[in-house]
Amino acid sequence: MLEIKNLVKKFDDRTIINNLSVRVEDNEILAVVGPSGAGKTTLLRCITGLEKVNSGKFFWNGEEFDPSKMDQKNSLVGVVFQDYQLFPNLTVLDNIMLAPKLVKKMDNEVIKKTALDLLSRLGLEGKETLYPYQLSGGQKQRVALVRALAMDPKVLCYDEPTSALDPELRDEVAKIIVDLKSRELQMTQIVVTHDMEFAEKIADNILKVEQLS
Ligand SMILES: Nc1ncnc2c1ncn2[C@@H]1O[C@H](COP(=O)(O)OP(=O)(O)OP(=O)(O)O)[C@@H](O)[C@H]1O
Ligand SMILES: [Mg+2]
Repeated sequence: MLEIKNLVKKFDDRTIINNLSVRVEDNEILAVVGPSGAGKTTLLRCITGLEKVNSGKFFWNGEEFDPSKMDQKNSLVGVVFQDYQLFPNLTVLDNIMLAPKLVKKMDNEVIKKTALDLLSRLGLEGKETLYPYQLSGGQKQRVALVRALAMDPKVLCYDEPTSALDPELRDEVAKIIVDLKSRELQMTQIVVTHDMEFAEKIADNILKVEQLS
């Protein structure tokens, strides 16, 4: 269970997140919805430690942690960025294997097996030697998802996973997210979206955020 208590995030004097508390149970899908500028991406960046918070506390299974100081070997939170952020000069397989290799220092063969297994689960069998430019938008997104999953996070966050996709792929992403919850991976997921319909379709709970100023 992930718990955030009394999170405050400001940029200079502007308060973006004002005293937010939220709890995400194991296996739950929490959708965070709200208008542009409400602080959805900022919230994800705080949870993943990319952004320092002004105040507030984070707990995993009741134990406090500091996302900005996490030892990456026990990567708790993974994130699929809105623009995927794949390395253009690396193949699909190398994109996926890079972080487990560098950060977790895992055995190459083990990482490769996991990567190929995840790729085939997400319908990307045979794509491992391609470069990102040779993939469709939906395929790139799934590679980004596999890359995050390869680090074996407990919590997986997505920033606007459907914004660049046509309706058909949108349904596919919804299926993948819901599927990850029920599979043996038992993922806890936070999905940032401005698409209320999508949120209602996938989420167990919906957190609505508003623009403060
Ligand atoms: N690094 C930063 N420095 C200063 N202000 C920032 C920074 N990052 C975000 N902001 C401001 O914080 C507010 C929230 O931004 P954020 O990107 O979290 O919104 P969002 O809800 O994700 O919007 P969208 O739906 O358009 O993606 C915006 O007003 C933005 O300008
Ligand atoms: Mg955003």
